[in-house]
Amino acid sequence: MIRDIELKTSKGVCMLKESEVNISIPGIGRNYTFVQISDLHIAVRDESDSDAGKGRAEKSEAFWRSQGCIVCNKGLADEYIMSPLEANNAVAKRIRQISPDMVFLTGDIVDYTSLPNLLWARQYIKDLSCEYICVPGNHDTLNKNLSDKENEVLSELLGNTPEFCICSLKGFDIISLDDSSLKISDMQLCRMQEHIKSKRPIILLMHVPLLAPAARDPVFNKWGQNWMIGEEQQCKNNRAFLKLIEDNRDIVKAVLAGHVHIATGDDENHATGIVQYTAAPCFTGFIRIIKVSDKFE
Ligand SMILES: [Fe+2]
Repeated sequence: MIRDIELKTSKGVCMLKESEVNISIPGIGRNYTFVQISDLHIAVRDESDSDAGKGRAEKSEAFWRSQGCIVCNKGLADEYIMSPLEANNAVAKRIRQISPDMVFLTGDIVDYTSLPNLLWARQYIKDLSCEYICVPGNHDTLNKNLSDKENEVLSELLGNTPEFCICSLKGFDIISLDDSSLKISDMQLCRMQEHIKSKRPIILLMHVPLLAPAARDPVFNKWGQNWMIGEEQQCKNNRAFLKLIEDNRDIVKAVLAGHVHIATGDDENHATGIVQYTAAPCFTGFIRIIKVSDKFE
C-alpha cells in the first residue's frame, strides 16, 4: 500500500509517497526495518568541472526535474518545485526519521559517473547514518574510461563483489546482483541456483526488474519492450534466471528493483508469480519500507 507522508523541509511542506511491504520469515528471531530507494540520478557540478561537465550536469538536472520532482507548499502562493538534489535530500531526511536497519539503493545512484557525482553520492549515503547495500544501475557502471579516483569511489559505493553479493542475517539472506547490462551472467545464474538449494529465504536486490506479473502491464504501457529480465527475445540465461525465481517463490520472498521509474507490486496480492516491487525514482519522493518479521501481525 502506498500512502502520502507529510514532511517539513527548509523549502516548505511536501508529501512523500511511502510504500510499506511486510514480509514474514518464521524463525528469524527479531524484526527488521529496511528502506528501499532507487534511481537518484545524482547530477552535480563543482569548480573542478569543465564547461562541458557543468553543462552536462545542468542538462541532466533539468531533465530529471521535468520528470516530476517533489513539490513543496502545493497550491499555495509560495509553491516551490524542488531540484532533484533537494528532493533526494528530503527523502534522506525521512530515512533518518525511520532509522532503518539497512537501506537498499537499487541502482542509478548517479546519472553519470563523474567525480563530483560520485563524491556527492558517497556523502549522501554516509549522511543516512546506517548500513546500506547498493546495486549498480546502467548509469553507475564501472568502466575503464573512469579515472582511478572515480573507480575507487564507485567501488567503495558498490562493495567488492557487485556482480553477486550475499549479506547473511539470522534465518535469511539479502542477495544483491549487478544486472545493469540487462544480462544475467553464467556465474550469477549458477550461484543463484546453488544458493536456492540451501532453502534459506532470500530478499533479492537488482536494478533491472524481472518480468513479473505486477510489472508487465504498467512497464510495457510506459516503456514498451526490452526493459525487464526474462523477456522472450533475451539471452537464455535471463530466461533461465526468471524461471528459477518463478519456480522458487517460496524461497525468494521479495525482489526489489528500480530502473523502470514506476512503482509496481505495492497493491498486488502476489497470489501468483514472482513477488516483486519496483520503485519510482527517489527524486519524485518515493520511498519503500520493508518490514521483515517472524510472522504477520
Ligand atoms: Fe534510472
